[in-house]
Amino acid sequence: MDVSELFQQPAGMAYFDSAATSLTCTPALEKMQEYYRDYRANIHRGAHRLTLKASDEYESVYGKLAHFFQADAQEFTAVRNTTEAVNAVALGLEWSKGDEVIVTDIEHHSNLLPWLRLKKQGVLVRILESDAEGRLSPEKLVSVISKKTRLVSFTACSNVLGGTIPITDLASTAKKAGALVFVDAAQYVGHHPVSLKQWPVDFLAFSGHKSFGPTGIGVLFHRKNVDLSPWFVGGGTVRDVSLSDYNLLKHRERFEAGTPPIAEWLGLGAALDVINQIGYSVIQSHDQKLIAAMLRVFQESPHVTLFGSNQAEEKAGAIFPFSVKNVPHHQAAVMLDQLGFACRSGHHCAIPLTKKLGVPGTVRASLHVYNTEEQVTRFGEALKTLAALS
Ligand SMILES: Cc1ncc(COP(=O)(O)O)c(C=O)c1O
Repeated sequence: MDVSELFQQPAGMAYFDSAATSLTCTPALEKMQEYYRDYRANIHRGAHRLTLKASDEYESVYGKLAHFFQADAQEFTAVRNTTEAVNAVALGLEWSKGDEVIVTDIEHHSNLLPWLRLKKQGVLVRILESDAEGRLSPEKLVSVISKKTRLVSFTACSNVLGGTIPITDLASTAKKAGALVFVDAAQYVGHHPVSLKQWPVDFLAFSGHKSFGPTGIGVLFHRKNVDLSPWFVGGGTVRDVSLSDYNLLKHRERFEAGTPPIAEWLGLGAALDVINQIGYSVIQSHDQKLIAAMLRVFQESPHVTLFGSNQAEEKAGAIFPFSVKNVPHHQAAVMLDQLGFACRSGHHCAIPLTKKLGVPGTVRASLHVYNTEEQVTRFGEALKTLAALS
């Protein structure tokens, strides 16, 4: 399968910023255009053929999600992004004073701030600390967890370090202690399969835009047996309404208030089809090749410090945070841009982790299935040029 046919690469640049957002696959763009061009209508409202077609297309994406993640179609809710999903759960669970939430010190702000905000309701946020390379251990979780722990939330792959996380071990440790489990799979779904049949998790979230889909759409998985109040109410969520009260629909329908991002939802469905078409085994083995090649480049660049693990087998994502001797991170990213590479620079929405690394920010190269080993070789040369200029 020729992956390059599925993606339009940016002109004149190697795109090394997929952890921020992936390239959009062409079938997702085509699906969105098809909706706008051929059957643009609101969904679940009315009886004309365009709304019926749009509604059928919209509903079919739940079926795709159910198949893709091995769960019930009712357990998926359309949200804007991972951030909205985390907030939805933090706002939708009932909290009591003294409840505890455990998060790790390698989280993106989106999986930290919504929990920290619960402090106002008397919820204590405890931190599961990672080691110097960002590894998390279930044994350490045992020492932080207690009967008071209501929920444990952790990333399936850090957007800064890209290291392997013992996802199912952490989740089953949390479940054994009676806690709910939330997994932030924003960086994971585009690279690795998830089985919600096998993973002992209650909630999982990801964003379409990091998994070849459009922006503005994400998914919250929410296990049916866990009570969650809707964070918004309004059109599309009710069975009956009077002027003094309302009766909400069951499970998923009660969560999607208002007109959803219909085109984006369909685009997300097309992106999942593309992942299936390429196959996770191809994505994973390509990632492994890129990871090995990138690690060789960093080994041969003594003026560059790579953060996180430098062992290929410890990397879940082709994500490489680094600093260049004597060059501030934003300046290094601008210089790399001049040399033809789109890399992100800054704290990557993970200020606590950046502080732990002991730097004001890093440059981050993050690669995906559409990147090539030839680009990695050129990246090595670009790093050498940077050293010569600094
Ligand atoms: C690990 C992780 N979690 C959450 C998010 C937030 O995703 P979004 O901005 O799509 O809500 C990101 C985005 O970079 C991320 O990498």
